[in-house]
Formats: sequence, C-alpha cells, structure tokens
Amino acid sequence: MKIFITGIAGFLGANLAEYYLSKKYRVSGCDNLIGGTLDNIDVNKINFFKADCENLDEMTKIIKDVDVVVHSAAYPHEGLSSFSPYLICKSNYIGSISVFTAAIQNNVKRVVFCSSMARYGDIETPFFEEQKVRPVDPYGVSKLAAENTLKILADTHDIEYNIAVPHNIIGPKQKYDDPYRNVVSIMTNLILQNRRPIIYGDGEQTRSFSDIDDCIFCLDKLITDKNINKETFNIGPDEEKISINELYKILCNKLKYNEPAVYVKDRPNEVKHAICSANKARKYLGYKTSVTLDESIQKVIDFIKSKGAKKFTYNYRLEINNENTPETWKKKVF
Ligand SMILES: NC(=O)c1ccc[n+]([C@@H]2O[C@H](COP(=O)([O-])OP(=O)(O)OC[C@H]3O[C@@H](n4cnc5c(N)ncnc54)[C@H](O)[C@@H]3O)[C@@H](O)[C@H]2O)c1
Repeated sequence: MKIFITGIAGFLGANLAEYYLSKKYRVSGCDNLIGGTLDNIDVNKINFFKADCENLDEMTKIIKDVDVVVHSAAYPHEGLSSFSPYLICKSNYIGSISVFTAAIQNNVKRVVFCSSMARYGDIETPFFEEQKVRPVDPYGVSKLAAENTLKILADTHDIEYNIAVPHNIIGPKQKYDDPYRNVVSIMTNLILQNRRPIIYGDGEQTRSFSDIDDCIFCLDKLITDKNINKETFNIGPDEEKISINELYKILCNKLKYNEPAVYVKDRPNEVKHAICSANKARKYLGYKTSVTLDESIQKVIDFIKSKGAKKFTYNYRLEINNENTPETWKKKVF
C-alpha cells in the first residue's frame, strides 16, 4: 500500500509515518515545517517534500501514484483562531481543498481527513458524530467546512473518504515550544524550566486526552479497512475526563513541583466541557483505551526530558490585537 501523509513532520503525521514504515508500506508526504520538524521523521525512508498544501500545482505534482492520502496538515490552533482567523482558516480550509483536489486529479482511492472536536462547538456533551453541531470558533468552522467539501467532492468524483475527529491527542513528537496549543506539553516545558504554568479561567474546564498509539489504532482502520467508508468517527476515550486543575496536579506530582499555577482571565470562545462519545469507535473500530492517561502523560514527560526543555517560539502572527486578546500572547509571557 502506498500512502501520502500531509503534515508528515508534525506530531500525528510523523507517528503515523513511523507506524506505516514499520508495516513496510511505501510512505511519502509533505510538510511546510511551520509546526513540524524533520527530527520527527526518517527522511531516508520517507519520500519527503517540503511543500505547502495551499499550493495546488505543487500538490498535484507530488501526490502521485498513491492509494490513500491522509490529510493531517493544519494550523491546529483552536484558541488562536479567534485572533489570527485569516491565517488559520486559509491554511485549514484552502489547504484542505487543494489537497482533496490534487488527490482526485491523481485518482487516489481514498482520502482520510483529520478534523477536530472543535467541529462540535458549545453543545451538550458527550459529543456524538451525528449530532447537530455548532462550532464557536474559526478553527472549528474551517474544519467543518473542509469536511463538508470533502463529502461533496468524494460523492461527485466517486472516491472513498473517512473523517477522523480526534480528542486532544498527546504523546512523543508533539511540539512543546508552541505557546498557543498543547496544554500538557506547555505545562511540562514550563515546569522543567522552573517557571509557573498558566491556567486560563478557573481551571475547571474539562477535557479528555487520547494517547497517540490508541489514536493510530483507530486511524489505521479509517485508512485501510475497505468496509469503513464515508464515515465520521470520534477517536479517543470517554471514560476519563479531567479538569485542567486536576491535570496540573498530576504534572506537579510527577515532576515534583510545588508552586501553584498562575490563574489568568479565560480565553474568549473556550468551550467549557469538551468530551466526545467513543461508542461508535468502540462498536465499529474495536476501539479501546489501552494506554491510561497517567501512562500517556508520563510518555510526554519522558519525551520532553529526552529532548530538553525549550524556549517558546512565536511562529504565528497575531492578526487581531485588542482588549480580547490574551495578555499571555500579547506580551509573549511564555
Ligand atoms: N493533536 C491533537 O490533539 C489533535 C486533535 C484533534 C485534531 N487534530 C488534527 O490532527 C492533525 C494533526 O495535528 P497535530 O497535532 O499533528 O499538529 P502538528 O502541528 O504537530 O502537525 C501539523 C503539521 O502540518 C504542517 N502544516 C501546517 N500547515 C501546512 C501547510 N499548509 N502545508 C504543509 N504542511 C503544513 C505543520 O508544519 C505540522 O508539521 C491536524 O489536522 C489537527 O487539526 C489534532
């Protein structure tokens, strides 16, 4: 099987590439390296292109002779999307449409799109795949728009597709010097530098985290299982939700850190509780949580320790800088 992964130098893309290389698949992929790094992948074994998904001509050239395209590239910055909406929507929507178009031009059999639970927005939890959705930020809207466009194009041109809706995924290879996303990594990176982590709002917002290996188990089905087609699946556990305050306590215990977090104003549009139902994945993909949250957090800590704590980098321009913009970003506090 020949697979092309966009965003292959990022967290999910690189872990997927490693998995398929271990299964002796032929793996190719692209990344513009805004959020990913070549340290994440073995360029001797992967046919790697430094390319931007928004460039349709380039995508048309490089997505050649493959069976499946996994579109994982994105600016996956939900919080930032209300302050840099142009940057994030352009990449996530236009970039996606460009990849889908190139895949169809090249007669790819199947496209698997990595969406996000931001597609659901502020609706009752747990989120179910078939529920009426109401995204509350530009990131969620851009993901949903890409999903809808993929469905239309796939029906029109008769190609297979699946849509993955992962929870917050954590694990090795995740960027931990990005001040705009990845709460577990940000807190770990700060604590390792003996700097107090920041919590937005009262910290009672709840999330559910999914281990990268459990996520890949499900994604593999969406990518390779012929009987699973034209489906949308939540991917991740629904047994173990956790508040940001509880998460902070776990990290403090593991890292033997005793300082309290710094509490700042909550971020506009942040959904208070975001938990997906895993019923459909359990039933049709055989999903089960094989890595506990505690084990998964330990994997993140071990990874960051092995690479060393890092200074944060501000790679994305703040397009809207007003009284709603979090001070942490305006003042580059991290
Ligand atoms: N990690 C999560 O918790 C999570 C949760 C839900 C959904 N997702 C989705 O899964 C996908 C992967 O997320 P991730 O956590 O691996 O993010 P990531 O930032 O680690 O990886 C994304 C990669 O895409 C690349 N990229 C971005 N825009 C590009 C473009 N226009 N052209 C080429 N490359 C581009 C980046 O350089 C990066 O390497 C994203 O689509 C994201 O929205 C992730």
